[in-house]
Amino acid sequence: MATVLITGASSGLGAEFAWQLATARHDLVIVARSRDRLDELATSIRSAAGVSVEVLAADLGVESDLERVATRLADASSPISLLVNNAGYGSGRSFLANDWATEKAMIDVMVTAPARLAHAALPGMVARGHGAILNVSSVAAHLANSTYAAHKRWLLDFTHALAGTLAGTGVSASVVIPGLTRTRFHDSPELSHYHDAFPSAAWLSPEDVVTAALAGLRRRTVVVTPSARYRVVGVVARSVPRSVTRRTSAVRRRGRE
Ligand SMILES: NC(=O)c1ccc[n+]([C@@H]2O[C@H](COP(=O)([O-])OP(=O)(O)OC[C@H]3O[C@@H](n4cnc5c(N)ncnc54)[C@H](OP(=O)(O)O)[C@@H]3O)[C@@H](O)[C@H]2O)c1
Repeated sequence: MATVLITGASSGLGAEFAWQLATARHDLVIVARSRDRLDELATSIRSAAGVSVEVLAADLGVESDLERVATRLADASSPISLLVNNAGYGSGRSFLANDWATEKAMIDVMVTAPARLAHAALPGMVARGHGAILNVSSVAAHLANSTYAAHKRWLLDFTHALAGTLAGTGVSASVVIPGLTRTRFHDSPELSHYHDAFPSAAWLSPEDVVTAALAGLRRRTVVVTPSARYRVVGVVARSVPRSVTRRTSAVRRRGRE
């Protein structure tokens, strides 16, 4: 049975990846900071799906914790066949309003950690001739309106680079581009206004996002955008000149400071 390591598995999309992959008979290693939530999820999944679930409590913004997760990924005695780089969050404030520690933590969790973990996982996957990396980006990757968008853009471009590098190895790289999804992501005071700002039709369910992501992964699709409506949003957003999307950064900054 193949083993999957999922970051940010304590809630939202990560927990949904855990449930769907366990239902498909994969053993799991689940990673996040909240050990209690991970333990609770592990207990439920073990009893419902009968698979093995390892809990790895780690803050991906802390180098020693990140290295513990990297060491687990590189452990040839218990190989990982799929790495889901899912952990992430938005600060809801502009670059100018954030202190450096906040900005650096976002880079650590959403840029450095996915790169480090892919770097740890890939040598074993390539040597075995099979495996996959699945990165969770965002529709924000198509916009140039926040550092969060820039990190998610990096993850999209990083996946393209990996997919090219991995051609012919038997190992694949995919990225999923979710639109607004009902998780804990928008529960912070800085982001809670999203719940009222967007109509219910704009919101996706974690179940649908993860189902589409895993179907794309099985087909080895490099870029997976769940739902027709967000595929349209992606096409439109990519056609808008950067000079226009840049202006939305200034509007957001004035609104949030
Ligand atoms: N929801 C949306 O509308 C949406 C849209 C596009 C993309 N996304 C992306 O989807 C991914 C999952 O987010 P979600 O919507 O499922 O939100 P969520 O419910 O808030 O889940 C975020 C997960 O990331 C983990 N995490 C955050 N900081 C971490 C850190 N320093 N170290 C380790 N784990 C950390 C959290 O666990 P702990 O707090 O326990 O550490 C949690 O498990 C993120 O990358 C997000 O950017 C979300």
